[in-house]
Amino acid sequence: MPDSSPPIYLDNAATSFPKPPEVAETMHRLIQEISLSPGRSAHRFSLAASRVIFEARELAAGFFGCPDSSRVVFTSNVTEALNVGIFGLLAPGDQVLTTGMEHNSVMRPLRYLEKTRGVGITILPASPTGGIDPDDIPKHLNAKTRLIIINHVSNVTGVVADLGAIGKRKGKALLMVDAAQSAGVFPLEMENMGIDFLAFTGHKSLFGPTGTGGFLLRQGLMAQPLTMGGTGSNSEQEEQPQLMPDCYESGTPNTLGIGGLAAGLEFIKKTGRETIRSHEEHLTGLLLAGLRQIKGVTVHGPLTANNRGSAVSLTMAGKSVADLAFLLDRQYGIMARAGLHCAPAAHRSIGTFPHGTLRFSPGFFNTEAEIQTVLTALDTISTES
Ligand SMILES: Cc1ncc(COP(=O)(O)O)c(C=O)c1O
Repeated sequence: MPDSSPPIYLDNAATSFPKPPEVAETMHRLIQEISLSPGRSAHRFSLAASRVIFEARELAAGFFGCPDSSRVVFTSNVTEALNVGIFGLLAPGDQVLTTGMEHNSVMRPLRYLEKTRGVGITILPASPTGGIDPDDIPKHLNAKTRLIIINHVSNVTGVVADLGAIGKRKGKALLMVDAAQSAGVFPLEMENMGIDFLAFTGHKSLFGPTGTGGFLLRQGLMAQPLTMGGTGSNSEQEEQPQLMPDCYESGTPNTLGIGGLAAGLEFIKKTGRETIRSHEEHLTGLLLAGLRQIKGVTVHGPLTANNRGSAVSLTMAGKSVADLAFLLDRQYGIMARAGLHCAPAAHRSIGTFPHGTLRFSPGFFNTEAEIQTVLTALDTISTES
């Protein structure tokens, strides 16, 4: 491939690129026009910054089917959001039901609580493509099960968990959803799906900048906050306010990032989530169909594009995934990711531990021509010794 060819970015499951131009424009305007400390002072800049955050909260609440925007809390990513829920909702002796497809942002805090606070963990086994059967859930619930934690769309295989069915089978447990890979592409209706704690990240399919994310907490549910400090509210008290969302948002927030995230949400509203989804589905279908023709390639995950995320994981006989990723980047300008994708549990479930997979994750701004270039490159590599 000539050096002048534009690079092809297929690592949208890590973070989306490019972002819609509105995101950069909004952030550029905000940092030039106002100071960005909301809710502290009564002057016009502080009020304008508060408005930026409020409008983002309203957008996120509408987007995730939550009737009250004060239940939307901003964090720096989904990892922090999941940590607030996991540490804030679990007490010693509680039981958690989760799956064999979780990211380390769920497994690491859970393993810590298992070791230090006697929290019990039950893992629902996943099929070789990463699917879990919602009918298995009731079999593993007991009186101590406080939380069910589910990865909505796998960052390894793209498999989709049936949240509607899971919500109906949760019994008295709370349902926490890791929507890192699904928010912005798949429908997420908090109330209708029986979700109690919905954690999202801003920088993937919501098109926000890195350093943004958050969670939505079901009405009436409170979790112990992870961070305490100044909120700009109830400042006469030395105790953390119980007020939503201030309770979880101590310290000056990432107003600039949250403004960018709001621009990302507006872009999705304008474009249509379904339009985004169907483009990604189309590209994923082309990729899967082409991979079937390449010698030595095994796709680990669902083999058809309908009802799956865009993360496509593969291995190639006789080649290391790390070498493949290196070669694609250096010789063909194609950016993919190799390894465990921070989800060793998922690789144990699908049989690709410890080396992992080569993952392509098309996004809304990828094209058919780019997928074709990737397929041609892989085909060439597959014939090389
Ligand atoms: C399923 C899943 N959960 C959690 C994360 C962590 O996301 P973040 O780094 O934005 O916190 C990711 C991203 O890699 C993911 O794919």
